[in-house]
Amino acid sequence: MTNILMVCLGNICRSPLAEGILKSKLNADKFIVDSAGTSSYHIGNKPDTRSITVAKQNGIDITKQQARQFVKQDFKDFDWIYAMDNSNYNNIIALAANEEEKAKVKLILNASFPNKNLDVPDPYYGGDKGFEKVFTLLDHACTIISKQLNSKT
Ligand code: 4NP
Repeated sequence: MTNILMVCLGNICRSPLAEGILKSKLNADKFIVDSAGTSSYHIGNKPDTRSITVAKQNGIDITKQQARQFVKQDFKDFDWIYAMDNSNYNNIIALAANEEEKAKVKLILNASFPNKNLDVPDPYYGGDKGFEKVFTLLDHACTIISKQLNSKT
C-alpha cells in the first residue's frame, strides 16, 4: 500500500478536491489517499459546498469527507504529503522531526509546473470560478502524480 496525504489550510476547499481527484485516478487496492488541514478552523466539517459542486460536475463525490487537522503522526502514516501552497508547505515542514520526514513533503503544482513552486490559489473568499480553476489545476497535477505513482509500484 502507498499512502498519500493532501494538505491545505482548512481542509474544506482545496485538499478535499485533491483527495477526491487523485483517488479517482488510482487503484484503491494499492493506494490510500487522505487529506488534512494545517489549521483547526474547520475540524469535523464537510467540504465547502462550492468544492462539492465542482467535484460533482466532474463525476466525483467528496460529500463523505470530514475535515481534520494535520498531525505529526501523518509523517509516519503517509509516504507522500502534497501541500497546496507555500504557506501550507512551510507549516508542514516546521512540524517535521527530521530530514526523512521533510523529504516526503512536496508542493502539488510542482508535479505539473516543475520547480516553479506555484500555489493552488485559496478559493475560500472568491466565487465559483475560483473553484473551477482549482479543479482544473488539481486535475492536471493529479494526472501526472497518478502516472508517477503507478510507475513506481
Ligand atoms: P482551504 O480553504 O485551505 O482550501 O480549505 C480555506 C478554508 C477556510 C479558510 C481558509 C482557507 N478560513 O480561513 O476559514
